[in-house]
Amino acid sequence: MQQTENFKKVISHAKEYGFIFQSSEIYDGLSAVYDYGQNGVALKKNIRDYWWKAMVQLHENIVGIDAAIFMHPTTWKASGHVDAFNDPLIDNKDSKKRYRADVLIEDYVAKIENKINKEISKAAKRFGTAFNKDQFLTTNPRVIDYQTKAKQIIKRMSRSIENEDLADVKALIEELEIACPESGSRNWTDVKQFNLMFGTKLGASVDSAMDLYLRPETAQGIFVNFLNVQKSGRMKLPFGIAQIGKAFRNEIVARQFIFRMREFEQMEMQFFIPPGTQKEWYEHWKEKRLKWHQSLGLGNEQYRFHDHEKLAHYADAATDIEFNFPFGFKELEGIHSRSDFDLGNHEKFAGKKLQYFDPERNENYVPYVVETSIGLDRMFLAVFSKSLTEETLKDGSSRTVLKLPTVLAPNQLAVFPLVKKDGLPEMARKIVDDLKWDFTVVYDEKDAVGRRYRRQDALGTPFCVTVDHQSIKDLTVTIRERDHMTQERIPIAALEKMLNEQLSMSELLKKL
Ligand code: GAP
Repeated sequence: MQQTENFKKVISHAKEYGFIFQSSEIYDGLSAVYDYGQNGVALKKNIRDYWWKAMVQLHENIVGIDAAIFMHPTTWKASGHVDAFNDPLIDNKDSKKRYRADVLIEDYVAKIENKINKEISKAAKRFGTAFNKDQFLTTNPRVIDYQTKAKQIIKRMSRSIENEDLADVKALIEELEIACPESGSRNWTDVKQFNLMFGTKLGASVDSAMDLYLRPETAQGIFVNFLNVQKSGRMKLPFGIAQIGKAFRNEIVARQFIFRMREFEQMEMQFFIPPGTQKEWYEHWKEKRLKWHQSLGLGNEQYRFHDHEKLAHYADAATDIEFNFPFGFKELEGIHSRSDFDLGNHEKFAGKKLQYFDPERNENYVPYVVETSIGLDRMFLAVFSKSLTEETLKDGSSRTVLKLPTVLAPNQLAVFPLVKKDGLPEMARKIVDDLKWDFTVVYDEKDAVGRRYRRQDALGTPFCVTVDHQSIKDLTVTIRERDHMTQERIPIAALEKMLNEQLSMSELLKKL
């Protein structure tokens, strides 16, 4: 996939302003591994808090845990990851580059979709206000041909992968004449399955060391603790267990910045329900999660559902909430109806019952599960990329502004003394000291005020307060708002109330 100009700007802005750095950069970096800088860590924490509050704090029947990354190796046999957590890989014999076969095919289909989009733009220009997109999509013969071709390719690929027919996946790549992006040749090896889990060892001596995996998802830490939480918390079905933590995958296609990483963070919730109610809960969580995303105000049109045809080994229904990233619509969150697959298998492999006695049904059963699973880093990329804006101002100059949802901004307020004398720095520092208990506040006295505003715009700080000579006389300051650059003079004593109203996460949560 081509990195667009916009995406390149996102990556360089993230580095320049202390949000994200390449891991171990001084050693030329480690592919698909990233570090969060001083501002990135704050934005990430705020996203994490917003999820945790919405999922755990606001739901009486959802509790949180923090399970270990290392788990007994049999966990991954039971979960199916040892046998089925694979990507189909293919090597190009000339460039010696390795690719995910399904991604090569999906990239080919993306090119067809681009052609459809070009036809739409051309027609929209030609017909002007009379253009009807839905009608065009269903009547234009060329577009219909493109759509049919794209659907057929995806259908065949999904079927072949599901049936483990890797020879047909290779045949499809050859029929479509897909060339290696590096060498341009079509000299491919056979397609092989490659397990994505990282292995490691536990123990001191080589002989007795136990082979372990770094967890590829946090969900299994929840499943193996199902009875511990249910019993110790006297939880009644339906109830959920939420967790935020690191996961690790040996991703082969890792070229989209923090979209696909080898070490990343997941925010997952497993909702345990009586068998037979999964459809209703699946729909419930689809709606709830979409609303959570939309509440951040990045634009409802930036999200769409994509129902899976190719189901993961554990799912009986699954959808993605896709987001319009700088490189197009891609998965941001997964919602999966996992049936009793996981608990049922842990019962078998551990030889222990993982059942719930339902007093209403008067029976024991293995609960079913609906899962919501979102990558925290992917959510970071969604928020960060959509917020990064270049604006041309009335005077012809331009500014870069990170229009982050205000509740997520790393710094909520910046305080500036107009000049570094006449008691203004002291007064500005006093404001910082008074407000820092409840807000994230930074103090800045370097450069002209205009440049200080620009710097805070680029960091996404929603408000800047300037202390000037009038402040000394009447205890007022100017407060400047990031997106509209409006300025207002208000009493220092009114700052706290104003910030509380404008930056309240609770107010946003109440709308969910
Ligand atoms: N427990 C289910 C599960 O792990 P998944 O669709 O494989 O399902 C869930 O992953 C979410 O985790 C994805 O929607 C994505 O946001 C995030 N994710 C998965 N792999 C990732 C990676 N390599 N880098 C960053 N985020 C990833």
